[in-house]
Amino acid sequence: MQNAIRVLKNAVPLLLEWYGAYKRELPWRGTRDPYKIWVSEIMLQQTRVEAVKGYYAAFLEKFPTAEALARASEEEVLKAWEGLGYYSRARNLHRAAKIIAERGFPADFAGVRALPGVGDYTAGAICSIAYDLPCPAVDGNVLRILTRLTADERNIDEMSTRSAFSELLREVYPPQAGEFCQSLMELGATVCVPNGEPMCLICPWRELCAAHRMGREEEFPVRAEKKARKTEQIFVYVLKKEGRFALRKREGKGLLAGLWEFPNGSKDESAEYGKVLSEKNAKHIFTHIEWHMTGYLIEAKEFFPQFTWVTPEEMRKGYALPSAFKAFKSWVDN
Ligand code: ADE
Repeated sequence: MQNAIRVLKNAVPLLLEWYGAYKRELPWRGTRDPYKIWVSEIMLQQTRVEAVKGYYAAFLEKFPTAEALARASEEEVLKAWEGLGYYSRARNLHRAAKIIAERGFPADFAGVRALPGVGDYTAGAICSIAYDLPCPAVDGNVLRILTRLTADERNIDEMSTRSAFSELLREVYPPQAGEFCQSLMELGATVCVPNGEPMCLICPWRELCAAHRMGREEEFPVRAEKKARKTEQIFVYVLKKEGRFALRKREGKGLLAGLWEFPNGSKDESAEYGKVLSEKNAKHIFTHIEWHMTGYLIEAKEFFPQFTWVTPEEMRKGYALPSAFKAFKSWVDN
């Protein structure tokens, strides 16, 4: 580890200089408002930068402060989150906003980490970026660039490896903590990329990087074998009657619980609902499961009372439908 500290001490100024020159302009860079940084980090937890860009400004326009977010209804918050996925993030954001509206935004790591929905990574990122505190934020991107830099062969799926890198970073954190934190993310996102070709020729670390020296960039990070995702066959019914469509609120505690959805199930019951007008297949990949969906557009026999019947306009304005059902939404919009 002493050797790694020495390498990293040399690597930090090179990275900061590179970041200053080549960083992407992203909507959340340029603010020090912890509320705004928090919102961006929660959105970025499981969603790609390109996708978040479109949501961030609209969300802040709707909810410019923690107080405004705290005052909103859960339905409004979920609606603003529609399409971003992983809706427990939106629910936690809303819960946390109520705490922040009362007590102010927490000013240290322990306080930020205690907010609902905030783990070590997100707390580290918020404290680094908003407060310039030396709090490492270590995710898969950061582990990739650091294991390549130091040709570290430990399994990054072990918590002990993660905490070792967290400690390593703590040793070398410069005063510009926010810039440093984001420069690590940036190198992993734009240069030292996972699959395919890392762009070593333009990397600020090319002369320090142990993996590059050995031509073994692609062998890092070392990971445990991944378990294959389970797949599930789902039948989705877009029931239409007199310009209205059937929705229901998903029950239980599992995936997408509490969100609005098209009626669906694991058996093909299309004939019971009415006449099938159209059919198409779609796939949606969640973290641990894959849905293989067969969707039917159906002229419903009746206004089945177990469902809520809404117009396309009402659906657009007031009902947040998970992205999993996106492939079938065109039947409503046309
Ligand atoms: N991923 C997580 N946080 C990020 C940030 N602040 N900028 C870019 N990518 C990120």
